[in-house]
Amino acid sequence: MRVLVADHPLINHKLTYLRDRRTDSPTFRRLAEELMTLLAYEATREVRVEPFDIETPVAPTTGIKLANPKPLVVPILRAGLGMLEGMVRMLPSAEVGFLGMLRNEETLEAVTYANRLPDDLTNRQVYVLDPMLATGGTLAMAIHYLAERGATDITCVTLLAAPEGIKALEEQIADVQIPVTLVTGAIDQELNEHGYIVPGLGDAGDRLYGVV
Ligand code: URA
Repeated sequence: MRVLVADHPLINHKLTYLRDRRTDSPTFRRLAEELMTLLAYEATREVRVEPFDIETPVAPTTGIKLANPKPLVVPILRAGLGMLEGMVRMLPSAEVGFLGMLRNEETLEAVTYANRLPDDLTNRQVYVLDPMLATGGTLAMAIHYLAERGATDITCVTLLAAPEGIKALEEQIADVQIPVTLVTGAIDQELNEHGYIVPGLGDAGDRLYGVV
């Protein structure tokens, strides 16, 4: 798995306010969206394009446009929804599918509870959005699911990642034959005994949407 840390002062600035416990939900949502837009720039570096002939007011020229089939964006419910708007702002013609996954807070294992995705992903580039790469279980499950349905490559975008999670994810997807890339805003210090990223930002879903 290729790992890219999108190290940029603006990303670090916004991450700092996201981490701050005093940041309220509306501000947190706005910052998560803005961060995603910045991360999208890095994540879509290899999005497939094709030549496109146009005429400027001065002369004909050849540019590029997104190739078909269009990329598929898959936010992992619920916290990945907080990143969706920031991504589709950069890729407005992308198709959006949904995977509902949560982790059992005792075993820390990922469980799938909702799936709204095309059955056939042959030839599709897929972008998976999940703010926190903690144990790696959710992303590993999502990657297997998408690879089995024929995705050509998968880029996971997270706001933060734990070193243990990256290692575990690499081990769990060692059998996956397609290219997988992780783009993250930062790699934090560690995972604590409750499966939270340290220093992290707390529970991303709760901070986005309040505790329900
Ligand atoms: N999920 C979160 O929302 N936060 C963490 O720190 C780890 C997993």
